[in-house]
Amino acid sequence: MKHYQFGVDYYPEHWPKERWAADASMMREMGIQIVRMAEFSWEKFEPAEGEFHFEDLDAAIDILAQEGIDVILGTPSAAPPAWIVERDPDIQPTDWTMRRRHFGGRHHDCQSHPAYRTHIRRYVTAFAAHYAVNPHVVGWQIDNELGNSHGDLCFCEHCEKRFRAWLREKYGTVAELNRAWGTAFWSQGYGSFEQVHAPRVTVTGINPSQELDWKRFTSDLVCEFHQMQADILRAAAPEKFITHNLMGFCSKPSYYDLGKQLDFASHDQYPGGHFHARHDEYRADWHAAELDFIRAVKQQSFWIMEQQSGITGWEILGRAPKPNQIPLWAMQCVAHGADTIVFFRWRSCAMGTEQYWHGILPHNGVPGRYHREISAFMKKYAPLLKELHGSVPKADVAILRSYDQERAFDIQPHHPNHRYMQHVATYYKALHRANVPVDFVGEHHDFTPYRVLIAPLQFLMTSEHAAKLRAYVEQGGHLVLTWRSGVKDGTNLCYTEGAVPCLVDDMCGLALAEYDCLRDTDGLVRWDGVEYPCTQWCDVVDTTTAESLATYAHEFYAGTPAITCNQHGKGKVYYVGTTMGDALADRFISCLCEGAAIGGLLDTPHGVEVTHRMAGGRKYLFVLNHKEVPQQVKIPETWHTWDGAVWEGTLAPLGMQVFVEL
Ligand code: GAL
Repeated sequence: MKHYQFGVDYYPEHWPKERWAADASMMREMGIQIVRMAEFSWEKFEPAEGEFHFEDLDAAIDILAQEGIDVILGTPSAAPPAWIVERDPDIQPTDWTMRRRHFGGRHHDCQSHPAYRTHIRRYVTAFAAHYAVNPHVVGWQIDNELGNSHGDLCFCEHCEKRFRAWLREKYGTVAELNRAWGTAFWSQGYGSFEQVHAPRVTVTGINPSQELDWKRFTSDLVCEFHQMQADILRAAAPEKFITHNLMGFCSKPSYYDLGKQLDFASHDQYPGGHFHARHDEYRADWHAAELDFIRAVKQQSFWIMEQQSGITGWEILGRAPKPNQIPLWAMQCVAHGADTIVFFRWRSCAMGTEQYWHGILPHNGVPGRYHREISAFMKKYAPLLKELHGSVPKADVAILRSYDQERAFDIQPHHPNHRYMQHVATYYKALHRANVPVDFVGEHHDFTPYRVLIAPLQFLMTSEHAAKLRAYVEQGGHLVLTWRSGVKDGTNLCYTEGAVPCLVDDMCGLALAEYDCLRDTDGLVRWDGVEYPCTQWCDVVDTTTAESLATYAHEFYAGTPAITCNQHGKGKVYYVGTTMGDALADRFISCLCEGAAIGGLLDTPHGVEVTHRMAGGRKYLFVLNHKEVPQQVKIPETWHTWDGAVWEGTLAPLGMQVFVEL
């Protein structure tokens, strides 16, 4: 596959044809080599059933090709046209209250609906056949951000029918389903699969086992919806790649599963998103975590398919990116393993919902600051991206990101403010502050390359998973488990035998005695005489063989262990019984890293991020200042600036420097 460094998302159908040649030539001058198009343009290309008009798209591809620019085409199944909706109105999805969502936005589709699938098959088959032979079309994106806007969709009869088939396949008999879902409670027993519904709005809380299976089913549905299109595209054009623009920690479909269908993962990165309430909040660590997670999807380098290139906004706008902030955001993606950066979008659109989601060019098409900054960035760093292609960082620490645990906590957060990913991020952020590289892993990945595995909130503990964790520790791994581990089986029923954390209590060297949900109060943990705040939850444990590292300093359980460590086999198991504040997390991570002989890449002031990628036997180091003030950084003598610049010891506000270790 040809390598690309920079691209842009382009919507020629929003502009007069006379402008296309000027756009293409400006793109080439900037250094753009690839353009993504067509993912929302079904109505233009098939204005009536079976009447295909790809002439305009052909013309746009030709114009780009004349400038040496290649193309990725999107299938448009996120925006079915009005004529399809008129013919088959019930392809419009229904939410959990059985309220229909209508035409006029996007994602107004039910992914199960047989008629909608027929429309998609017809379109994608014609589209694939038409472009299979075009050498300038090098790859496909199927739909757009699958899972986005479908969070609570769809609950129609077609989705329920598929859900029942999925349950039948999983459980075989309705008796087994009744057992697995614990339907003895509130008289919920089913006499047949036909009686089972999607978890529609109820009068009171819904059966958590039913909800968990529904979430698993909808993830599989999204993947199967993608697979249906991927099969058509691969059969027509086996040499073209398939990717998808993922959304970081979005949890509707499992990206581990979706990733199996992709040649490489892509991600949409909008660090200054208008949807954030506080724009002054430090979020570079969260963005870093999302990028590290996207690398985990296929355990390889990835693309950014949409990189913020101006102010974001729909009805409400975000802040203007500060001078040099867009290049800094783009470099952060490279620093975590992106090979190619595709900027969203070429030109701010004059029409529709996204009029204020600004592009490289403003509405009038005259280049301004964003264009200047992005051009300079591309020109300077294209050679660096070439050198780095395909490389990834090396990490000794892995964090387990589990879709199943997240689903289970979405259903039962316990504490009203508890969110699975935010809890996982407590650990990530502390490692990030210490500049310790991190990989994310799923349950299916190999844990053995990592000296440390942090596995927060292992609420659902199956015997297979427990055995895998056990083997990891016995062979010398350092494992971190936390509160609400080993509480339930894989169907979301509580264990009724043994000590929590069930199946791993001996490894942890402790048993849960009781617990306290902190609700509207915070707690305190004492470690070596220093008191640190903790929140949300406190496990009260009886240790058997575990050593207490820190104790609670509040409530009736003051003096009992809050954080423990137990030697098991050749390894260790740490148990953290509470949600740590930043200071406590820093203390814990430093103890954990010391125990596993892991050091950070560099000591830096807060807001200066350091990452690395290993390429061609060399280590490339990225030092990024996310703060709007100059920051001093002491760089080891073995590090040399990649661009040959003299290093003066200070990073400018929102400045960056790349080093190579010799
Ligand atoms: C992304 C999406 C794009 C565009 C952009 C700005 O989530 O993939 O199509 O909508 O946001 O809103």
